[in-house]
Order: sequence, then C-alpha cells, then structure tokens
Amino acid sequence: MATTPGVEGVARWRRDWETMMRHYQPGRDGLLAAGLTAAEQAHGRAPERVLDVGGGPGTTAEAVLRRWPDAHVTVLDIDPVLLALTNTALPQARTVRADIGAPDWCSAAGGPYDLVLALMTLHYLPEDRVRDWYAEARHLLAPQGLLLVGDAMPDAPVPAKPRSGGIDPWTAWWAALFAQPSMAPLLTERAAALSGLDSAEFVASTDWHGEAARRAGFTDATVPYQYAGHALMAFRR
Ligand SMILES: C[S@@+](CC[C@H](N)C(=O)[O-])C[C@H]1O[C@@H](n2cnc3c(N)ncnc32)[C@H](O)[C@@H]1O
Repeated sequence: MATTPGVEGVARWRRDWETMMRHYQPGRDGLLAAGLTAAEQAHGRAPERVLDVGGGPGTTAEAVLRRWPDAHVTVLDIDPVLLALTNTALPQARTVRADIGAPDWCSAAGGPYDLVLALMTLHYLPEDRVRDWYAEARHLLAPQGLLLVGDAMPDAPVPAKPRSGGIDPWTAWWAALFAQPSMAPLLTERAAALSGLDSAEFVASTDWHGEAARRAGFTDATVPYQYAGHALMAFRR
C-alpha cells in the first residue's frame, strides 16, 4: 500500500476537486442539499448509516457529515488515490475499495444503509450494468432506506454550457496531481487498480432511470432536483 499524501496538499486537491466537479455538474450544491433533505423526509430523522458509491476524495461525504455529524459514512471507490485523499481528510469515514463494474462490490460495501448515494458515478457503467446496479444497491438498503442518484439526465432543461477554454478541468486536476513527486507511489497503485477501466459515458433520461429502478424493485421514484441537463433522483426501497 502506498503512503498517504500530506495534509496541506490534500486540502488543496479536494477544494480544487469541488471546483472541477461544479463545472461538470451544474447546480451541484443545490442538488446535494435537495437530496439530503429528501433523505431526512424519507426517514423522519437524519440517516445513521450512509454509503457514498464512487465517493472520490470524500467531498460529498464531508458535506453529509457537516449536516449529520453522528452519521456513519462509508466512501466506496475503485481509485486508491481518491480514497487516500478521503482517508487523510476524513478519518471518521470508512473507506472501501471496490469495483462497481462487478456484482461483488455489494459484499465489500457491507450494510444495511439508510442512505446510498451515487453522484456522477453511474455514467461510468454500461447500460446493462446500470440496470443490475440498481438491484444491487437496493439489496444494501435497510427497509426504509433511500437511494439517491445524481448524474446527467438530459430530459432536464439544458442552458448553454459554460466555456472552459483550453485543457478540460478533469485533465487539469489529474495533471496537477501527477506533477507532485510525493504522489508517485499512489499513482502507480492507481494505474494497476484502474487498468482497462474506461467510463462508458452512459447517459439516460429520468424516465429511463425510474423504469430501471422500478424493475429492480424500488417502489417510488421522485426527482427532487433538476437543472441544466442534470438531475437528482430519489428511490425508496
Ligand atoms: C466523476 S467522479 C465523481 C466522484 C464523486 N461522486 C463526486 O461527485 O465528487 C466518479 C467517481 O466514480 C469512481 N468510479 C468510476 N468507476 C468506478 C467503478 N467501476 N467502481 C468504483 N468506483 C468507480 C471514480 O473513481 C470517481 O471517484
């Protein structure tokens, strides 16, 4: 296992990560706030056990813990670099390394959970895997549990995209990390962990996601937030 990066670099990379993600997910802060409110309404209280699937460097987990300080939060991801950033910044969160491209991620995830989140993660999977993933995520939920999925869902109104100009923000964020000599061991570990992994760039409408979730056994699908071609959907177990 490679060493953990220094605290000061971690704070900067996680801050820059949020800036970068706001570029790709318009209305990100409002979307998450709407999702957490939906979870409180579904439970009638703050969820106690939360799983963030594809949680990256733990910035969403941090927002969850700000809102619900007593929650037990698990961040699951395939990427050892991003999990190392989570471990350093959020020692109170549990991290799990697993690949949601195969069904056995469920046993690694544990559970049951009151809330499972997947923000800007499902588009990495091909269509058939997303369908199966819904059933797997349902299996992880407690009886009153809620699943929140946020991603590009282009039946929402789409205003003009902001111009970024030059190198795209995702590439720029990773390039800055690659330039840090202290990150070399983790990046080597990452290269092995992500070998052959490509994003499917799967995009579907809210209707498609609602139908996939219904077929997976979810009883109820709502859209608490929708903006600029992105949506947050909530599914009751
Ligand atoms: C665009 S990032 C979003 C991260 C985080 N949810 C957020 O909104 O800041 C997608 C995340 O999904 C993770 N991911 C992609 N494919 C995965 C897979 N097959 N298994 C587990 N995690 C995966 C990536 O490592 C990355 O952290």
